[in-house]
Amino acid sequence: MPSIALILIVVGCAEDPVQPLVDQFPVMPAHLPTMPYPVGNTITPAKVDLGRHLYFDQRLSSEGTIACASCHRPEKSFSDAPNQVSMGVLGARGQRNAPMIVNAGYRKVMFWDGRAGTLEEQAMGAFLNSTEMDADTIAVAALLRSDAYRSKWLDAFGDTLVSMTRAMQAIATFERTIVSANSRYDRFNRGETQALSEQERQGMQLFFSSRTMCSSCHGGNDFTDDQYHNVGLFHHYFDRGRYNVTKDPLDEGKFKTPTLRNIALSSPYMATGDSEKGLMLTLEQVVDHYNDGGTPFPNKDPRVKKLGLKDPEKAALVAFMKALTDSSVLTNPAWQKP
Ligand code: HEC
Ligand code: HEC
Repeated sequence: MPSIALILIVVGCAEDPVQPLVDQFPVMPAHLPTMPYPVGNTITPAKVDLGRHLYFDQRLSSEGTIACASCHRPEKSFSDAPNQVSMGVLGARGQRNAPMIVNAGYRKVMFWDGRAGTLEEQAMGAFLNSTEMDADTIAVAALLRSDAYRSKWLDAFGDTLVSMTRAMQAIATFERTIVSANSRYDRFNRGETQALSEQERQGMQLFFSSRTMCSSCHGGNDFTDDQYHNVGLFHHYFDRGRYNVTKDPLDEGKFKTPTLRNIALSSPYMATGDSEKGLMLTLEQVVDHYNDGGTPFPNKDPRVKKLGLKDPEKAALVAFMKALTDSSVLTNPAWQKP
């Protein structure tokens, strides 16, 4: 059916930037890349709805106190700001900073060290992890078979066969709907030249320049290359990062480049929220860190080196990152607790 295919392509590339893609549910802003839905976990409205209920349901944790949303809260752009590390069941403390899950559906690897490949696998990790939800799968299965979930489950999967794998598929499907594309930076890119101030435009130029090299790692639509780098935070890494997965000494202290979308909303910064010089609480501190060239470490990426930025240039970089805030994410009714 070439004519239909042609229509889809024409609509997808239409001039109007908010023209929805007709071949996708949910309606994605047209200037975002196509969301990759995995084979075997197609998206339907019923599955998204089930996933949303599960995402916010504390009864999934062993103590009935923790949901995914406890550490990835909509009003904090799905991070756990201002907590450096998160509190799981019975007050168990994790060791890493909870990332935002905005646009997480586009990530090629999950977790700071990439130990999960998909959102489905990732969700299962958090669900079973003893310091996060520590789920009792027998109790959760009973909950999913109860009146609370029976009809939602049937709508989502077409039968009542309950499994944790399917529950995580529903959560992952909900997560794939959480997308941000309406910051002032996005609007500027869509032709609203007044959306960024002069200072923010100067910061943008610096960010994308060979002088700072920021965008060589924080590149692409979500400001990440989905690769691991050591940015010189410590002389000694207690959390060895990617090394824990590969056991390759060259991966010591390397972490996945995080997205910078809504970055102003998710302090503290870095995988452990920390650095040798102290907590990383502000974007100003992060820029100072890069400008100073970081703490020496054998694996430190050569792009992290003294930059010689002047104060107004540092301020411009920070201003640019703040222009990546899309506050509609925080209040979108589709992503709130049902
Ligand atoms: C107790 C707090 C806590 C709970 C509960 C929790 N998470 Fe997380 N989440 C974290 C932390 C901390 C990390 C980073 C851990 C790491 O990288 O090792 C993380 C990482 C993630 C990531 C990876 C993002 C990326 O860019 O790599 C996703 C997605 C995610 N969580 C979704 C979920 C889902 C879905 C649930 C519920 C099934 C959940 N989380 C429950 C704290 C939590
Ligand atoms: C060599 C790749 C690389 C370069 C160059 C780079 N970054 Fe990063 N950035 C990373 C990685 C990797 C992390 C996470 C490091 C960690 O936690 O150990 C990070 C973390 C950050 C964070 C904290 C994000 C969060 O969610 O905690 C900000 C903000 C940031 N970088 C901004 C910048 C700016 C601004 C520049 C340019 C001055 C820059 N980066 C240059 C790779 C890079």
